[in-house]
Amino acid sequence: MKIWDIAIRLFHWTLVVVFIMAAYSAFQDKFGIYADMHTYAGVTILILMVWRILWGLVGSETARFSQFVRGPQAIKGYLQHGDAAKCAGHNPLGALSVVAMLVLLLAQAVMGLFATDDIFFSGPLSDQAGGWAGTLTRWHKQLGLVLIGLAALHVLVVLYYSVVKKAGLLRAMISGTKPAAKRAPVLKSSWLALAIFVPLASGLWYAILG
Ligand code: HEM
Ligand code: HEM
Repeated sequence: MKIWDIAIRLFHWTLVVVFIMAAYSAFQDKFGIYADMHTYAGVTILILMVWRILWGLVGSETARFSQFVRGPQAIKGYLQHGDAAKCAGHNPLGALSVVAMLVLLLAQAVMGLFATDDIFFSGPLSDQAGGWAGTLTRWHKQLGLVLIGLAALHVLVVLYYSVVKKAGLLRAMISGTKPAAKRAPVLKSSWLALAIFVPLASGLWYAILG
């Protein structure tokens, strides 16, 4: 049964690539190619996050925050007798980490725009950071490490669910399908995803990078 639309899957695997580029370039000497790589990967992450938030409001059922973000009762129930293999989308516990990752990635990319190392490399809006430049740069560096840790944890948990518990999460994020779902979720058209993405991406890219 189809649970993830093509847009979410492309979003996810693009995010993996640009996150690795942002994290890798963060620890190289940031001028020339590595500075560019960090800036472009970071701005791409910013665009992906804004698109994901919009898709979480108007997109496919499994992408919608109102569908997968659940209260403490649902999380407790899932912990007691839930089965990740049967969830047609994020499970109620995984949903928390999804929201945390999205919010923190967005905050990280926004702070990066205002960050500066005071020597070679500055975010494109660092001139406008005023007295906040030092604080935002410090937070950006700290949250960068937290995000790398969270991403590693995320990959370990997904692999555990997929390999040990055989819940099919990884396969579903690649093929979009999962065998055990009870009811097919309503998936929105890829054209709608694209119609949101193209003006958003070009508008933000132009506004930030000129
Ligand atoms: C090769 C490494 C990775 C694998 C195998 C992987 C796998 C997955 C899988 C299977 C899901 C769906 C979980 C579910 O069914 O509830 C997922 C969701 C997610 N992953 Fe990854 N992931 C990887 C790397 C990353 C990285 C580096 C990031 C960003 C730091 C990331 C961010 C996310 C986010 C934000 C979601 C939620 C998707 C959404 O609803 O928008 N992942 N990942
Ligand atoms: C979510 C995506 C991003 C991640 C994961 C990330 C990660 C990091 C990390 C870990 C560092 C610290 C490296 C160190 O300790 O030497 C760093 C530094 C920096 N980042 Fe990002 N970054 C992201 C997005 C951005 C964006 C969009 C910009 C601006 C275009 C940016 C601009 C900077 C700057 C100027 C520094 C240098 C700070 C300094 O060395 O004092 N980052 N980034």
